[in-house]
Amino acid sequence: MTLVALLNSSRKPRFNRDSSFRLFFIFAGILGALSAASVAIAQSADRPWMNPGLAPEERAELVLKQLTLDEKLALLHGNGMAHASQWQMPLTHLANGGAGYVEGVSRLGIPPLVISDAGYGVRDSGANGRYSTAMPSSLGATSSWDVDTACEFGTVIGQELRAQGFNMTLGGGVDLAREPRNGRNFEYAGEDPLLAGTVVGNLMKCEQAQHVVGDIKHYVMNDQETGRFFVNSVISKRAMQESDLLAFHIAISIANPGAVMCSYNRINGDFGCENHYTLQDVLKKDWGFRGFVISDWGGTHSTEKASTAGLDQEQPMADFFGPKLKAAVEAGQVPMSEIDDHVRRVLYAEFLSGIVDDPPQTGVVDVEKGFEVSQRVEEKSIVLLKNSPTVLPINPSKVHSIAIIGGHADIGMISGGGSAQVDPPGGNAIMSPGKRETIWQKQTWFSTSPLKALQAKLPNTKIDFDPGTDPKSAANLAKGADLAIVFASQWLSEDMDVPSLSLPDNQDALIELIASVNPHTIVVLESGTAVTMPWIDKVSGIVEAWYAGSSGHKALANILVGEVNPAGKLPLTFPRSEADLPHPDRPMIPAESQALAADAADNGTPTSNASVHSGYAVHYEEGSEVGYKWYEVQHKQPLFAFGFGLSYTTYAYSGLSVDSATKTVRFTVKNTGKRAGTEIAEVYARLPKGADEPYKRLAGWKRVMLAPGESQSITIAIDDRVLQTFDEEKNAWNVTKGEYQVMVGGSSDDTPLLAILVVR
Ligand code: BGC
Repeated sequence: MTLVALLNSSRKPRFNRDSSFRLFFIFAGILGALSAASVAIAQSADRPWMNPGLAPEERAELVLKQLTLDEKLALLHGNGMAHASQWQMPLTHLANGGAGYVEGVSRLGIPPLVISDAGYGVRDSGANGRYSTAMPSSLGATSSWDVDTACEFGTVIGQELRAQGFNMTLGGGVDLAREPRNGRNFEYAGEDPLLAGTVVGNLMKCEQAQHVVGDIKHYVMNDQETGRFFVNSVISKRAMQESDLLAFHIAISIANPGAVMCSYNRINGDFGCENHYTLQDVLKKDWGFRGFVISDWGGTHSTEKASTAGLDQEQPMADFFGPKLKAAVEAGQVPMSEIDDHVRRVLYAEFLSGIVDDPPQTGVVDVEKGFEVSQRVEEKSIVLLKNSPTVLPINPSKVHSIAIIGGHADIGMISGGGSAQVDPPGGNAIMSPGKRETIWQKQTWFSTSPLKALQAKLPNTKIDFDPGTDPKSAANLAKGADLAIVFASQWLSEDMDVPSLSLPDNQDALIELIASVNPHTIVVLESGTAVTMPWIDKVSGIVEAWYAGSSGHKALANILVGEVNPAGKLPLTFPRSEADLPHPDRPMIPAESQALAADAADNGTPTSNASVHSGYAVHYEEGSEVGYKWYEVQHKQPLFAFGFGLSYTTYAYSGLSVDSATKTVRFTVKNTGKRAGTEIAEVYARLPKGADEPYKRLAGWKRVMLAPGESQSITIAIDDRVLQTFDEEKNAWNVTKGEYQVMVGGSSDDTPLLAILVVR
């Protein structure tokens, strides 16, 4: 209540007992407000940086002037990692069970950074007796193509971080899925820079708006996990600028995160955390990033080189940015101006994010809200890949019995592993009681049973389950049912890639068998990236549920019975086989590096002897032809194209017009079916011949809700950034003059409308 409001309310005379009490409280309130104001004034005279009316950069500058060298250096490194025995330091216990801790400057009111991983929810809750909501995987959520969904995702995570006492997140993965076998693809947002950057940017913007320091990672070209601590990603600057860097640039410009995490891998020779080109030239100079660069955990390899290249904070230890950095400063090898730049950035991020003015209040996580948002995100993200002959949605007046096979569907759904892993409430559903904790690189399942969710939706249908471990028994059950649903899963985790895109553990054979005995077979996929489907022609329905999160079972049941009409579209291409990939055979780690690589993987830490591995490289000769662009140029037909996804209704596109002056397109979408639905209308552009980039690229999209029979005229502004090409020599972006083809439709391989945009 403001002072004026308090005075106004005190003017109304009411002479009963209640009003005397009210008057007492009003006067007490006025006195309280006045004394709080005088404290604040005194405080801001004493500590001018505590004035929230000043810009974050001004506040950072004021604090910087007060700091001793030791205080400055304390802001530039971590103090260990709570749950990694090899990374313990004296202050590790202050990390609140999270991934990292950076000392603050308490005498000046600058709080420590209390950091947690939070890829699709806050990590490491269970071990600390806390609870976190799991959202669907980031890749899954990207299938919604929805910035509002991304914002809800980020908001919940931001709120739950604060409720658990953290003030900084390590979420925000936006590396492109250029290698579909990458074990971290589920943490990222697919293969297109505009889609990935927009979704992750909005997610992190909303997460940081909850007053936690935001983060975008792993910068950059961290596109596989094999040899992740030393692999050299070799790519031309032009291609990198137009693909992976573009995704980061878009995400960073939307989110304005406090931090960007540099990656383990090398980029054209230099490690991500000592790469002058990517950190200093591109991120800080060209893009004007003002926050701080934080190293991936153990990703710092030098003192002077890393500092000059633009690394601001080493994590999780002080191997290079502790005593060695101090010695380098004192010996004049690292100038104080460089230290000040690092410190200014950390302080800026603290003020920008609001953690100084509004520190986290530890409390109870709003579990109900988490469930609700997680379910909504999943309902928008499930992708219907096949439905012929029409088996979905399930019609209970025709389907009286259903056989559910495999995938632990009786007890739960799978999640993604590694540092993004969210602890399942109540423990890992597939482990026997007593051994229910989350274990690094062991599959973790949430107790979210799709079998039970479907039974609840269809109380009059006979629904039976067979685990699929004995194919004969599964086939017997499937044979006698009106409908068979096989649950298939593909598990991904940090620090390992999948050897192939085939479903593991003979699941392909199980699906073939069930389809051979039941002509109405549906496959539900719980995958972290693309999978191959040798059985595709034998089944009637395919539903991609991704890693479905805390309420994924309910979302899936709603889609299967048609209470929710699917609308998700693929954020990455599903190839027919690995032979069609740019790198069909994975580049092998040279023999002399194998032992050290194994050693590093065993310890879960980068080997300090990383130079030994400098020979291991992946040459991204496909350049900016990532995902659908590659398939188009190579004339390869994918299994499912980028942007593809079916609905229980149908849509028709018509009437495309393009305004070249404003670079906007207008067209009409009509719902031609009998159900209401949401269509994601996609706009692609192909550059003029002179640009020498023959592929079409996503240039914009819109989600549109349509009642049966309804038409809507849609206007979409083409995103300029994807029309430009990068000139390496001039370090500048070019717009090629000429005619651009503009294509519109419901998938990258189905664009019925074509028009020309002219750039003069
Ligand atoms: C991962 C990061 C993570 C960090 C802290 C690293 O191994 O690559 O993504 O944020 O650990 O857990």
